[in-house]
Amino acid sequence: MKKIILTGDRPTGKLHVGHYVGSLKRRVELQNSGEYDDIYIMIADAQALTDNADNPEKVRQNIIEVALDYLACGLDPEKSTLFIQSQIPQLCELSFYYMNLVTVSRLQRNPTVKSEIQMRNFEASIPVGFFTYPISQAADITAFKATVVPVGEDQLPMLEQTKEIVRKFNSVYGETLVEPEILLPDNKACLRLPGIDGKAKMSKSLGNCIYLSEEPEEIRKKVMSMFTDPDHLRVEDPGKLEGNTVFTYLDAFCKDEYFAEFLPEYNCLDELKAHYTKGGLGDVKVKKFLNSVLQAELEPVRNRRKEYQKDIEYVYDILKKGSERAEAVAAKTLDDVKNSMKINYFEDKDLISEQKKRYAE
Ligand code: TRP
Repeated sequence: MKKIILTGDRPTGKLHVGHYVGSLKRRVELQNSGEYDDIYIMIADAQALTDNADNPEKVRQNIIEVALDYLACGLDPEKSTLFIQSQIPQLCELSFYYMNLVTVSRLQRNPTVKSEIQMRNFEASIPVGFFTYPISQAADITAFKATVVPVGEDQLPMLEQTKEIVRKFNSVYGETLVEPEILLPDNKACLRLPGIDGKAKMSKSLGNCIYLSEEPEEIRKKVMSMFTDPDHLRVEDPGKLEGNTVFTYLDAFCKDEYFAEFLPEYNCLDELKAHYTKGGLGDVKVKKFLNSVLQAELEPVRNRRKEYQKDIEYVYDILKKGSERAEAVAAKTLDDVKNSMKINYFEDKDLISEQKKRYAE
């Protein structure tokens, strides 16, 4: 069986370092591993509209931001198909048929949808499109017969929903769709990188993000203002690592070679942690080290982004060509789906003779 990746992001803002360690970096590694037959990276504008119906301009503006961030991270249009969800009409058709295979109560139980409804104060007025987006996400994934979906932990319920739809479809209409596997980050710190304020998750609305396109001075300021251990008042006090954002970021970003380069008194992160918990290591020193690490990681990303920013037309062209390629693939799957459901009346050779026979009797 072919190995196929599909994944994507909603274009509601620039991508940040949480996206980077949670998924983007991995995608680039998978892309460059050469182990996959096809890689599809989707800008999920239609999904973004399910809770931004009154603000299509926000979505429209952010498509290019996400595309630039993708290219900046090293996604390569020669190796991966980058495309825009709304340009693939087959995804709507697939969703329409999948809707019949999912119950309302099943959607109500989806933990991600539940918490999103709370976050957006939708309780009494949930848009139907928003409520059903897990079904449309199943269409995104199955349209490309994806076997692997690299995403963050919050997408687990979507993948469960997709698998259920695939199983149900195949059992009702015959083996047609492919069941995907989720691929989560293997580093725990990367699963859900906290914001610089130590709050659970990095998010635009909380204003606690470090963006991939951020300038060096901004990165430095944000790192220096990061939440650490509030009880670590004097350098000589023992410090706590748990909930200490600076150390969580080091867990996510640090490689041993950065010590040789920026902090040669230590060999590795464990040594730095041991000193911190024992006491005698100040927050400022650790923050300065984290700043050096982040600067080293983000500089090539920012520079590549600036190169692409010089040729916006070319970036849209990448998305256009990608969308054309993606549409052809989705059209093929839709044909398979309609054949399995036997709603391919005009291609079905037996239909007319069957009906003629019925009337001849
Ligand atoms: N729900 C994803 C997010 O919020 C975006 C998305 C839409 C997606 N369709 C997808 C991710 C299909 C993976 C596969 O980021």
